[in-house]
Amino acid sequence: MRNKLLDKIRCPDCRSNFNLENPQFCSSSKLYGLLVCSCATYPIVAGIPIIKNQSGTEFQKIQKIITYIQNRDYQKALNLALIQLPNYPDLNRKVLNLLSDRLGLKRIKKKIHNFNLLKWKKKAHSFFNNIDENTKATDLFNFYFLKSGTKRTNPNDYFTYRFGQPRHLSALSLSRSILESSKPVLDLGCGFGHITRGLTKRHNVIGLDNNFYLLFVAKYWIAPDAEYVCCEADADLPFVNDAFCSTICVNSFHFFDKKDHCIKEIKRLIDDKGSIILAALHHSKTKTKTSNSALSVREYTRFFEDMSHTIISDDKLLERYKDKRGPALGRPYDINDIEKETLISIIATHDEDIMVDHGVFDTWPHSVGRLEVNPLYVDEGMDSTGYKQYRRQFPSKFYEEENHLCKSYLPRQAVINPDILNKASYESESQEIADIEHLIASCVLLDMPERYHK
Ligand SMILES: C[S@@+](CC[C@H](N)C(=O)[O-])C[C@H]1O[C@@H](n2cnc3c(N)ncnc32)[C@H](O)[C@@H]1O
Repeated sequence: MRNKLLDKIRCPDCRSNFNLENPQFCSSSKLYGLLVCSCATYPIVAGIPIIKNQSGTEFQKIQKIITYIQNRDYQKALNLALIQLPNYPDLNRKVLNLLSDRLGLKRIKKKIHNFNLLKWKKKAHSFFNNIDENTKATDLFNFYFLKSGTKRTNPNDYFTYRFGQPRHLSALSLSRSILESSKPVLDLGCGFGHITRGLTKRHNVIGLDNNFYLLFVAKYWIAPDAEYVCCEADADLPFVNDAFCSTICVNSFHFFDKKDHCIKEIKRLIDDKGSIILAALHHSKTKTKTSNSALSVREYTRFFEDMSHTIISDDKLLERYKDKRGPALGRPYDINDIEKETLISIIATHDEDIMVDHGVFDTWPHSVGRLEVNPLYVDEGMDSTGYKQYRRQFPSKFYEEENHLCKSYLPRQAVINPDILNKASYESESQEIADIEHLIASCVLLDMPERYHK
Protein backbone atom coordinates (compact mmCIF):
# COMPACT_ATOMS: atom_id res chain seq x y z
CA MET A 1 0.00 0.00 0.00
CA ARG A 2 1.47 3.32 -1.02
CA ASN A 3 1.31 6.43 1.17
CA LYS A 4 -1.06 7.92 -1.41
CA LEU A 5 -3.77 5.65 -0.05
CA LEU A 6 -2.89 6.35 3.59
CA ASP A 7 -3.33 10.08 2.89
CA LYS A 8 -6.85 9.52 1.62
CA ILE A 9 -8.23 7.23 4.30
CA ARG A 10 -9.47 8.11 7.76
CA CYS A 11 -11.48 6.40 10.46
CA PRO A 12 -15.16 6.33 9.44
CA ASP A 13 -16.21 6.76 13.10
CA CYS A 14 -13.89 9.26 14.82
CA ARG A 15 -12.79 10.76 11.45
CA SER A 16 -9.19 11.05 12.56
CA ASN A 17 -6.22 9.89 10.52
CA PHE A 18 -4.74 6.47 11.11
CA ASN A 19 -1.29 5.59 12.37
CA LEU A 20 0.30 2.65 10.61
CA GLU A 21 1.61 0.15 13.19
CA ASN A 22 3.51 -3.16 12.83
CA PRO A 23 4.10 -2.60 9.09
CA GLN A 24 5.80 -5.53 7.44
CA PHE A 25 6.27 -6.34 3.76
CA CYS A 26 6.29 -10.04 3.03
CA SER A 27 6.13 -12.33 -0.02
CA SER A 28 6.07 -10.18 -3.19
CA SER A 29 5.98 -6.90 -1.20
CA LYS A 30 2.57 -7.47 0.29
CA LEU A 31 2.05 -5.06 3.18
CA TYR A 32 0.68 -6.34 6.46
CA GLY A 33 0.06 -4.02 9.39
CA LEU A 34 -2.48 -2.27 11.57
CA LEU A 35 -4.32 1.02 11.09
CA VAL A 36 -4.81 2.55 14.51
CA CYS A 37 -6.82 5.62 15.52
CA SER A 38 -8.20 6.76 18.87
CA CYS A 39 -11.30 4.56 18.58
CA ALA A 40 -10.37 1.42 16.62
CA THR A 41 -7.77 -0.84 15.05
CA TYR A 42 -8.16 -2.22 11.54
CA PRO A 43 -5.93 -4.77 9.78
CA ILE A 44 -4.12 -4.36 6.47
CA VAL A 45 -3.87 -7.75 4.80
CA ALA A 46 -1.74 -8.18 1.68
CA GLY A 47 -1.85 -4.42 1.10
CA ILE A 48 -5.64 -4.16 1.47
CA PRO A 49 -7.01 -2.31 4.52
CA ILE A 50 -10.13 -3.98 5.94
CA ILE A 51 -12.14 -1.13 7.43
CA LYS A 52 -15.39 -2.67 8.53
CA ASN A 53 -17.58 -1.72 11.43
CA GLN A 54 -17.12 -4.80 13.44
CA SER A 55 -20.06 -6.67 14.86
CA GLY A 56 -20.97 -10.32 15.50
CA THR A 57 -18.90 -13.01 13.80
CA GLU A 58 -17.19 -10.38 11.64
CA PHE A 59 -15.84 -8.78 14.84
CA GLN A 60 -14.28 -12.07 15.99
CA LYS A 61 -12.81 -12.68 12.55
CA ILE A 62 -11.20 -9.23 12.37
CA GLN A 63 -9.83 -9.52 15.92
CA LYS A 64 -8.25 -12.85 14.97
CA ILE A 65 -6.70 -11.34 11.84
CA ILE A 66 -5.28 -8.51 13.98
CA THR A 67 -3.78 -11.05 16.40
CA TYR A 68 -2.21 -13.02 13.53
CA ILE A 69 -0.63 -9.79 12.23
CA GLN A 70 0.68 -8.89 15.69
CA ASN A 71 2.21 -12.39 15.88
CA ARG A 72 3.63 -12.00 12.35
CA ASP A 73 1.61 -15.00 11.18
CA TYR A 74 0.82 -13.42 7.82
CA GLN A 75 -0.27 -16.52 5.88
CA LYS A 76 -2.86 -17.27 8.58
CA ALA A 77 -4.08 -13.65 8.49
CA LEU A 78 -4.43 -13.90 4.70
CA ASN A 79 -6.20 -17.27 4.78
CA LEU A 80 -8.69 -16.04 7.33
CA ALA A 81 -9.40 -12.86 5.34
CA LEU A 82 -9.88 -14.93 2.16
CA ILE A 83 -12.08 -17.67 3.53
CA GLN A 84 -15.81 -17.42 2.87
CA LEU A 85 -17.49 -20.27 4.70
CA PRO A 86 -20.22 -22.06 2.76
CA ASN A 87 -23.61 -21.60 4.40
CA TYR A 88 -25.55 -24.43 5.94
CA PRO A 89 -26.78 -26.53 4.05
CA ASP A 90 -24.51 -25.78 1.06
CA LEU A 91 -22.15 -28.68 1.67
CA ASN A 92 -24.84 -31.37 1.93
CA ARG A 93 -25.85 -33.54 -0.98
CA LYS A 94 -28.97 -32.31 -2.79
CA VAL A 95 -30.94 -35.50 -2.00
CA LEU A 96 -30.27 -35.09 1.71
CA ASN A 97 -31.57 -31.54 1.68
CA LEU A 98 -34.73 -32.66 -0.08
CA LEU A 99 -35.67 -34.73 2.98
CA SER A 100 -38.09 -33.07 5.38
CA ASP A 101 -36.77 -31.33 8.50
CA ARG A 102 -39.83 -32.48 10.42
CA LEU A 103 -38.51 -35.99 10.87
CA GLY A 104 -35.89 -34.52 13.21
CA LEU A 105 -33.43 -34.59 10.37
CA LYS A 106 -32.38 -30.97 10.64
CA ARG A 107 -29.81 -31.68 13.38
CA ILE A 108 -28.39 -34.62 11.47
CA LYS A 109 -28.19 -32.59 8.25
CA LYS A 110 -26.42 -29.78 10.12
CA LYS A 111 -23.96 -32.27 11.65
CA ILE A 112 -23.15 -33.66 8.21
CA HIS A 113 -22.72 -30.09 6.88
CA ASN A 114 -20.35 -29.26 9.76
CA PHE A 115 -18.33 -32.43 9.16
CA ASN A 116 -18.03 -31.53 5.48
CA LEU A 117 -17.12 -27.98 6.50
CA LEU A 118 -14.03 -29.20 8.33
CA LYS A 119 -12.94 -31.15 5.25
CA TRP A 120 -13.70 -28.15 3.04
CA LYS A 121 -11.73 -25.76 5.30
CA LYS A 122 -8.68 -28.01 4.98
CA LYS A 123 -9.05 -27.98 1.19
CA ALA A 124 -9.50 -24.20 1.17
CA HIS A 125 -6.37 -23.64 3.28
CA SER A 126 -4.37 -25.96 1.09
CA PHE A 127 -5.64 -24.04 -2.01
CA PHE A 128 -4.71 -20.67 -0.45
CA ASN A 129 -1.29 -21.91 0.72
CA ASN A 130 -0.48 -23.07 -2.80
CA ILE A 131 -1.42 -19.87 -4.61
CA ASP A 132 1.66 -18.86 -6.58
CA GLU A 133 2.80 -17.25 -9.82
CA ASN A 134 1.24 -20.11 -11.84
CA THR A 135 -2.22 -19.53 -10.37
CA LYS A 136 -4.57 -17.91 -12.88
CA ALA A 137 -7.41 -15.51 -12.08
CA THR A 138 -9.88 -18.08 -13.42
CA ASP A 139 -8.54 -20.68 -10.90
CA LEU A 140 -9.56 -18.23 -8.18
CA PHE A 141 -12.99 -17.60 -9.79
CA ASN A 142 -13.49 -21.39 -10.03
CA PHE A 143 -12.59 -21.95 -6.41
CA TYR A 144 -14.90 -19.16 -5.28
CA PHE A 145 -17.95 -19.97 -7.41
CA LEU A 146 -17.69 -23.68 -8.14
CA LYS A 147 -15.95 -25.21 -5.14
CA SER A 148 -17.31 -23.22 -2.20
CA GLY A 149 -20.68 -24.82 -1.49
CA THR A 150 -23.52 -24.45 -3.99
CA LYS A 151 -22.13 -24.28 -7.52
CA ARG A 152 -22.68 -20.82 -9.00
CA THR A 153 -21.96 -21.33 -12.67
CA ASN A 154 -23.62 -18.14 -13.94
CA PRO A 155 -21.56 -15.66 -11.87
CA ASN A 156 -18.46 -17.74 -12.64
CA ASP A 157 -19.13 -17.29 -16.36
CA TYR A 158 -20.06 -13.63 -15.89
CA PHE A 159 -16.62 -12.84 -14.45
CA THR A 160 -14.60 -15.27 -16.62
CA TYR A 161 -15.96 -13.74 -19.84
CA ARG A 162 -16.34 -10.18 -18.51
CA PHE A 163 -13.81 -8.44 -20.78
CA GLY A 164 -15.62 -7.71 -24.03
CA GLN A 165 -19.13 -8.20 -22.57
CA PRO A 166 -21.75 -5.64 -23.69
CA ARG A 167 -22.08 -4.29 -20.12
CA HIS A 168 -18.32 -4.03 -19.78
CA LEU A 169 -17.99 -2.02 -22.99
CA SER A 170 -20.83 0.35 -22.01
CA ALA A 171 -19.13 1.01 -18.67
CA LEU A 172 -15.74 1.53 -20.37
CA SER A 173 -17.42 4.00 -22.68
CA LEU A 174 -18.79 6.01 -19.74
CA SER A 175 -15.46 5.88 -17.96
CA ARG A 176 -13.98 7.84 -20.87
CA SER A 177 -16.10 10.83 -19.83
CA ILE A 178 -14.07 11.11 -16.60
CA LEU A 179 -11.61 13.97 -17.02
CA GLU A 180 -7.96 13.51 -16.18
CA SER A 181 -7.18 14.68 -12.66
CA SER A 182 -4.49 14.46 -10.04
CA LYS A 183 -7.11 12.88 -7.77
CA PRO A 184 -8.05 9.22 -8.04
CA VAL A 185 -11.31 7.68 -9.24
CA LEU A 186 -13.28 5.62 -6.73
CA ASP A 187 -14.55 2.32 -8.20
CA LEU A 188 -17.38 1.39 -5.85
CA GLY A 189 -18.28 -2.32 -5.69
CA CYS A 190 -15.31 -3.04 -7.95
CA GLY A 191 -15.52 -6.84 -7.56
CA PHE A 192 -12.63 -8.67 -9.23
CA GLY A 193 -11.46 -5.40 -10.81
CA HIS A 194 -12.37 -5.86 -14.48
CA ILE A 195 -13.55 -2.25 -14.89
CA THR A 196 -10.89 -1.06 -12.44
CA ARG A 197 -8.30 -2.36 -14.89
CA GLY A 198 -9.73 -0.20 -17.70
CA LEU A 199 -9.80 2.82 -15.40
CA THR A 200 -6.14 2.42 -14.40
CA LYS A 201 -5.08 3.05 -18.01
CA ARG A 202 -5.96 6.75 -17.56
CA HIS A 203 -6.41 7.39 -13.83
CA ASN A 204 -5.21 6.60 -10.36
CA VAL A 205 -7.90 4.35 -8.95
CA ILE A 206 -9.07 3.10 -5.58
CA GLY A 207 -11.30 0.03 -5.79
CA LEU A 208 -13.74 -0.59 -2.95
CA ASP A 209 -15.70 -3.75 -2.20
CA ASN A 210 -16.95 -5.49 0.92
CA ASN A 211 -15.54 -8.81 -0.24
CA PHE A 212 -11.84 -9.30 0.54
CA TYR A 213 -11.48 -12.38 -1.69
CA LEU A 214 -12.55 -10.40 -4.76
CA LEU A 215 -10.23 -7.50 -3.93
CA PHE A 216 -7.28 -9.86 -3.46
CA VAL A 217 -7.81 -11.20 -6.99
CA ALA A 218 -8.24 -7.66 -8.33
CA LYS A 219 -5.03 -6.48 -6.69
CA TYR A 220 -2.75 -9.36 -7.64
CA TRP A 221 -4.26 -10.57 -10.94
CA ILE A 222 -6.65 -8.24 -12.72
CA ALA A 223 -5.84 -4.59 -11.95
CA PRO A 224 -2.58 -4.41 -9.98
CA ASP A 225 -2.09 -0.69 -10.64
CA ALA A 226 -5.02 0.27 -8.42
CA GLU A 227 -5.21 0.50 -4.62
CA TYR A 228 -8.01 -1.23 -2.74
CA VAL A 229 -10.04 -0.84 0.42
CA CYS A 230 -12.34 -3.51 1.84
CA CYS A 231 -15.40 -1.91 3.44
CA GLU A 232 -19.16 -1.55 3.09
CA ALA A 233 -20.15 0.80 0.26
CA ASP A 234 -23.30 1.96 1.99
CA ALA A 235 -21.79 2.74 5.40
CA ASP A 236 -19.76 5.84 6.39
CA LEU A 237 -16.86 5.65 3.95
CA PRO A 238 -13.30 5.79 5.30
CA PHE A 239 -12.05 8.63 3.09
CA VAL A 240 -11.40 12.33 3.59
CA ASN A 241 -13.74 14.90 1.95
CA ASP A 242 -13.10 15.67 -1.75
CA ALA A 243 -10.66 12.77 -1.99
CA PHE A 244 -11.76 11.74 -5.50
CA CYS A 245 -12.29 13.34 -8.87
CA SER A 246 -15.14 10.93 -9.65
CA THR A 247 -16.91 7.80 -8.50
CA ILE A 248 -18.00 4.98 -10.77
CA CYS A 249 -20.15 2.07 -9.67
CA VAL A 250 -20.78 -0.67 -12.23
CA ASN A 251 -23.51 -3.30 -11.84
CA SER A 252 -23.39 -2.89 -8.07
CA PHE A 253 -25.42 0.05 -6.76
CA HIS A 254 -28.76 -1.78 -6.99
CA PHE A 255 -27.39 -4.37 -4.51
CA PHE A 256 -26.66 -1.85 -1.75
CA ASP A 257 -29.13 -1.66 1.15
CA LYS A 258 -28.65 1.95 2.23
CA LYS A 259 -28.60 3.63 -1.16
CA ASP A 260 -29.43 7.14 0.05
CA HIS A 261 -26.60 7.01 2.58
CA CYS A 262 -24.20 5.78 -0.09
CA ILE A 263 -25.12 8.69 -2.39
CA LYS A 264 -24.69 11.18 0.46
CA GLU A 265 -21.24 9.76 1.12
CA ILE A 266 -20.03 9.71 -2.49
CA LYS A 267 -21.21 13.30 -2.93
CA ARG A 268 -19.01 14.16 0.06
CA LEU A 269 -16.07 12.38 -1.54
CA ILE A 270 -16.04 14.00 -4.98
CA ASP A 271 -14.66 17.47 -5.53
CA ASP A 272 -16.47 20.47 -7.02
CA LYS A 273 -15.73 19.32 -10.59
CA GLY A 274 -16.53 15.69 -9.84
CA SER A 275 -18.91 13.19 -11.42
CA ILE A 276 -20.84 10.15 -10.24
CA ILE A 277 -21.48 7.32 -12.69
CA LEU A 278 -23.87 4.51 -11.80
CA ALA A 279 -23.45 2.12 -14.73
CA ALA A 280 -25.26 -1.09 -15.70
CA LEU A 281 -27.88 -0.26 -13.12
CA HIS A 282 -30.98 -2.41 -12.57
CA HIS A 283 -34.23 -0.61 -11.83
CA SER A 284 -37.50 -1.91 -10.42
CA LYS A 285 -38.84 -2.79 -13.87
CA THR A 286 -35.70 -4.74 -14.83
CA LYS A 287 -36.74 -8.35 -15.02
CA THR A 288 -33.86 -10.27 -13.51
CA LYS A 289 -33.54 -12.36 -10.37
CA THR A 290 -30.98 -9.99 -8.88
CA SER A 291 -33.10 -6.84 -9.16
CA ASN A 292 -35.13 -7.26 -5.95
CA SER A 293 -33.50 -4.35 -4.18
CA ALA A 294 -33.42 -2.05 -7.24
CA LEU A 295 -35.27 1.30 -7.09
CA SER A 296 -37.51 2.83 -9.74
CA VAL A 297 -35.93 5.16 -12.29
CA ARG A 298 -37.73 8.12 -10.66
CA GLU A 299 -36.31 7.22 -7.24
CA TYR A 300 -32.81 7.10 -8.70
CA THR A 301 -33.19 10.51 -10.34
CA ARG A 302 -34.25 12.07 -7.01
CA PHE A 303 -30.74 11.42 -5.70
CA PHE A 304 -29.34 13.81 -8.27
CA GLU A 305 -31.73 16.76 -8.21
CA ASP A 306 -28.86 18.98 -7.03
CA MET A 307 -26.53 17.92 -9.85
CA SER A 308 -26.65 18.13 -13.60
CA HIS A 309 -27.49 14.57 -14.69
CA THR A 310 -28.68 12.35 -17.47
CA ILE A 311 -29.80 8.74 -17.89
CA ILE A 312 -28.93 6.60 -20.84
CA SER A 313 -29.65 2.99 -21.73
CA ASP A 314 -26.71 0.61 -21.81
CA ASP A 315 -27.87 -0.63 -25.22
CA LYS A 316 -27.53 2.90 -26.62
CA LEU A 317 -24.05 3.23 -25.12
CA LEU A 318 -23.11 -0.04 -26.79
CA GLU A 319 -24.50 1.04 -30.18
CA ARG A 320 -22.18 4.05 -30.18
CA TYR A 321 -19.28 2.07 -28.73
CA LYS A 322 -19.40 -0.32 -31.70
CA ASP A 323 -18.81 2.74 -33.92
CA LYS A 324 -15.88 3.66 -31.67
CA ARG A 325 -17.83 6.62 -30.30
CA GLY A 326 -18.11 7.75 -26.69
CA PRO A 327 -21.36 8.29 -24.76
CA ALA A 328 -23.99 10.77 -25.95
CA LEU A 329 -24.48 12.75 -22.74
CA GLY A 330 -25.73 15.97 -24.30
CA ARG A 331 -29.33 14.89 -24.86
CA PRO A 332 -32.49 15.07 -22.78
CA TYR A 333 -33.95 11.76 -21.61
CA ASP A 334 -37.53 10.57 -21.31
CA ILE A 335 -38.22 8.58 -18.14
CA ASN A 336 -40.97 6.56 -19.86
CA ASP A 337 -38.50 5.40 -22.52
CA ILE A 338 -35.78 4.72 -19.97
CA GLU A 339 -38.13 2.54 -17.90
CA LYS A 340 -38.49 0.17 -20.86
CA GLU A 341 -34.75 -0.52 -20.86
CA THR A 342 -33.23 -3.44 -18.94
CA LEU A 343 -29.99 -1.76 -17.94
CA ILE A 344 -29.48 1.94 -17.50
CA SER A 345 -26.65 4.26 -16.51
CA ILE A 346 -26.88 7.55 -14.64
CA ILE A 347 -24.24 10.21 -14.99
CA ALA A 348 -24.37 13.12 -12.54
CA THR A 349 -21.79 15.86 -12.47
CA HIS A 350 -20.72 19.25 -11.13
CA ASP A 351 -18.93 19.85 -14.44
CA GLU A 352 -21.35 20.72 -17.25
CA ASP A 353 -18.50 20.35 -19.77
CA ILE A 354 -18.75 16.56 -19.74
CA MET A 355 -22.49 16.59 -20.57
CA VAL A 356 -21.91 16.55 -24.32
CA ASP A 357 -21.97 13.89 -27.00
CA HIS A 358 -18.48 12.45 -26.78
CA GLY A 359 -16.79 11.85 -30.12
CA VAL A 360 -14.62 9.12 -31.58
CA PHE A 361 -12.22 7.40 -29.13
CA ASP A 362 -8.55 7.92 -29.90
CA THR A 363 -8.03 4.22 -29.06
CA TRP A 364 -10.55 1.47 -28.39
CA PRO A 365 -10.92 1.51 -24.58
CA HIS A 366 -10.87 -2.30 -24.40
CA SER A 367 -7.62 -2.52 -26.34
CA VAL A 368 -5.29 -0.40 -24.18
CA GLY A 369 -2.65 -2.73 -22.77
CA ARG A 370 -1.70 -6.30 -23.69
CA LEU A 371 -3.87 -7.96 -26.31
CA GLU A 372 -5.12 -11.51 -26.06
CA VAL A 373 -7.80 -13.58 -27.72
CA ASN A 374 -11.20 -13.15 -26.06
CA PRO A 375 -11.71 -16.28 -23.90
CA LEU A 376 -15.07 -16.86 -25.63
CA TYR A 377 -13.06 -18.16 -28.61
CA VAL A 378 -11.97 -21.77 -28.85
CA ASP A 379 -8.72 -22.55 -30.65
CA GLU A 380 -9.50 -24.79 -33.64
CA GLY A 381 -5.91 -25.21 -34.83
CA MET A 382 -3.95 -23.93 -37.84
CA ASP A 383 -5.29 -23.64 -41.37
CA SER A 384 -3.16 -24.48 -44.44
CA THR A 385 -1.70 -20.94 -44.56
CA GLY A 386 -0.39 -21.19 -40.97
CA TYR A 387 -3.08 -18.89 -39.54
CA LYS A 388 -4.98 -19.89 -36.42
CA GLN A 389 -8.69 -20.56 -36.59
CA TYR A 390 -10.98 -19.67 -33.70
CA ARG A 391 -14.65 -20.38 -33.06
CA ARG A 392 -16.93 -18.38 -30.73
CA GLN A 393 -18.42 -20.61 -28.06
CA PHE A 394 -20.73 -19.50 -25.24
CA PRO A 395 -20.31 -21.24 -21.90
CA SER A 396 -24.08 -21.70 -21.45
CA LYS A 397 -27.50 -20.90 -22.91
CA PHE A 398 -28.03 -18.49 -20.00
CA TYR A 399 -24.82 -16.60 -20.80
CA GLU A 400 -25.68 -16.47 -24.50
CA GLU A 401 -29.15 -15.06 -23.80
CA GLU A 402 -28.01 -12.57 -21.19
CA ASN A 403 -25.25 -11.29 -23.48
CA HIS A 404 -26.99 -11.78 -26.83
CA LEU A 405 -25.99 -8.28 -27.97
CA CYS A 406 -22.37 -9.39 -28.21
CA LYS A 407 -23.37 -11.39 -31.29
CA SER A 408 -23.63 -8.08 -33.14
CA TYR A 409 -19.87 -7.56 -32.85
CA LEU A 410 -18.21 -10.90 -32.00
CA PRO A 411 -17.94 -12.93 -35.21
CA ARG A 412 -18.71 -16.68 -35.13
CA GLN A 413 -15.25 -17.47 -36.53
CA ALA A 414 -11.97 -15.59 -36.47
CA VAL A 415 -8.68 -16.16 -38.29
CA ILE A 416 -5.56 -14.80 -36.62
CA ASN A 417 -1.93 -14.57 -37.65
CA PRO A 418 -0.16 -16.38 -34.75
CA ASP A 419 2.75 -13.91 -34.85
CA ILE A 420 0.58 -11.13 -33.48
CA LEU A 421 -0.43 -13.23 -30.48
CA ASN A 422 3.04 -13.44 -29.07
CA LYS A 423 3.41 -9.71 -28.61
CA ALA A 424 2.77 -8.22 -25.21
CA SER A 425 1.77 -4.78 -26.44
CA TYR A 426 1.44 -2.66 -29.55
CA GLU A 427 2.34 0.93 -30.18
CA SER A 428 -0.88 2.76 -30.95
CA GLU A 429 -1.08 4.03 -34.53
CA SER A 430 1.61 1.53 -35.62
CA GLN A 431 1.20 -0.55 -38.79
CA GLU A 432 0.73 -3.62 -36.60
CA ILE A 433 -2.29 -2.05 -34.94
CA ALA A 434 -3.72 -1.16 -38.37
CA ASP A 435 -3.37 -4.83 -39.42
CA ILE A 436 -5.33 -6.10 -36.46
CA GLU A 437 -7.82 -3.23 -36.18
CA HIS A 438 -10.70 -5.44 -37.37
CA LEU A 439 -9.94 -8.00 -34.62
CA ILE A 440 -9.86 -5.26 -32.00
CA ALA A 441 -13.00 -3.56 -33.33
CA SER A 442 -14.90 -6.83 -33.06
CA CYS A 443 -13.51 -7.56 -29.55
CA VAL A 444 -11.84 -10.78 -30.69
CA LEU A 445 -8.65 -9.23 -29.31
CA LEU A 446 -8.85 -7.53 -25.92
CA ASP A 447 -6.61 -6.14 -23.22
CA MET A 448 -6.37 -8.88 -20.61
CA PRO A 449 -4.11 -9.51 -17.62
CA GLU A 450 -1.16 -11.84 -18.06
CA ARG A 451 -2.22 -14.53 -15.59
CA TYR A 452 -5.91 -14.58 -16.48
CA HIS A 453 -6.74 -18.00 -17.86
CA LYS A 454 -5.08 -21.13 -19.18
C1 LIG B 1 -21.99 -7.88 -9.98
S1 LIG B 1 -20.62 -7.43 -9.05
C2 LIG B 1 -19.93 -6.16 -10.07
C3 LIG B 1 -18.46 -6.03 -9.89
C4 LIG B 1 -17.75 -5.02 -10.80
N1 LIG B 1 -18.20 -3.66 -10.58
C5 LIG B 1 -17.91 -5.38 -12.25
O1 LIG B 1 -18.62 -4.66 -12.94
O2 LIG B 1 -17.31 -6.37 -12.70
C6 LIG B 1 -21.28 -6.56 -7.66
C7 LIG B 1 -20.23 -6.21 -6.61
O3 LIG B 1 -20.81 -5.39 -5.60
C8 LIG B 1 -20.23 -5.76 -4.36
N2 LIG B 1 -21.12 -5.33 -3.27
C9 LIG B 1 -22.42 -5.67 -3.07
N3 LIG B 1 -22.88 -5.08 -1.96
C10 LIG B 1 -21.87 -4.34 -1.45
C11 LIG B 1 -21.73 -3.48 -0.31
N4 LIG B 1 -22.72 -3.28 0.53
N5 LIG B 1 -20.55 -2.89 -0.11
C12 LIG B 1 -19.50 -3.08 -0.96
N6 LIG B 1 -19.59 -3.86 -2.04
C13 LIG B 1 -20.74 -4.50 -2.29
C14 LIG B 1 -20.10 -7.27 -4.46
O4 LIG B 1 -19.18 -7.80 -3.53
C15 LIG B 1 -19.66 -7.42 -5.91
O5 LIG B 1 -18.27 -7.38 -6.02
